[in-house]
Amino acid sequence: MFHDIPQNIMDRMKYLEQRDAADRLDGTTRMQRLRQITPEVGRFIALLAASAPDGNYIEIGTSAGYSTLWLALACRAVKRQITTFEILDEKAKLAKETFKVTGVNDVVNFIQADVLLHISRYKDIAFCFLDAEKEIYGQCYDEVIINMVTGGILVADNATSHEKELRPMLNQVLADDRVDALIVPIGSGELVCRKK
Ligand SMILES: C[S@@+](CC[C@H](N)C(=O)[O-])C[C@H]1O[C@@H](n2cnc3c(N)ncnc32)[C@H](O)[C@@H]1O
Repeated sequence: MFHDIPQNIMDRMKYLEQRDAADRLDGTTRMQRLRQITPEVGRFIALLAASAPDGNYIEIGTSAGYSTLWLALACRAVKRQITTFEILDEKAKLAKETFKVTGVNDVVNFIQADVLLHISRYKDIAFCFLDAEKEIYGQCYDEVIINMVTGGILVADNATSHEKELRPMLNQVLADDRVDALIVPIGSGELVCRKK
């Protein structure tokens, strides 16, 4: 996955990393910023996605498609596909551009919509990366876990950076006996759950 990343994917990742770094410095408003994961977290979720069982892969919160590119590498490695959701027009435009210039539409199904209107339709979920507004984490977790296959993996970003807002949801997940879960202190803190 990591040793032979196609040049067009490497180039787009680099471009988005630079744009995200600039956003964080130049006062771009929160809703306009790309708010991407770090490259280390990208590798981490790709490894987990490539280790997930057979089933549907979903991502909640595409932004410009940076994390999706890491997950696309995993999907290609294990011959799966991922559906990713983004609600905002401007981000959707960037994401479509990302998927077009990198040629990952063979493994990426992009849906521009509020994920909450669609998520309950997805059954047999094998992998989910949750990285959206923190207010919807609890509802997304509930909808995903109930439809997740045994051995399926859910990763949620910002478990340490937004620890205060997410504490009730984190407590619920860590006490949920349908999953084994822990928080991994890389990037913004990754909550990792494996469905039993
Ligand atoms: C932190 S950013 C995602 C970053 C991306 N995962 C990455 O690392 O490249 C969160 C994104 O979730 C989107 N989002 C928030 N609520 C959503 C919803 N209800 N449905 C779909 N997308 C949503 C936001 O518009 C934003 O672009």
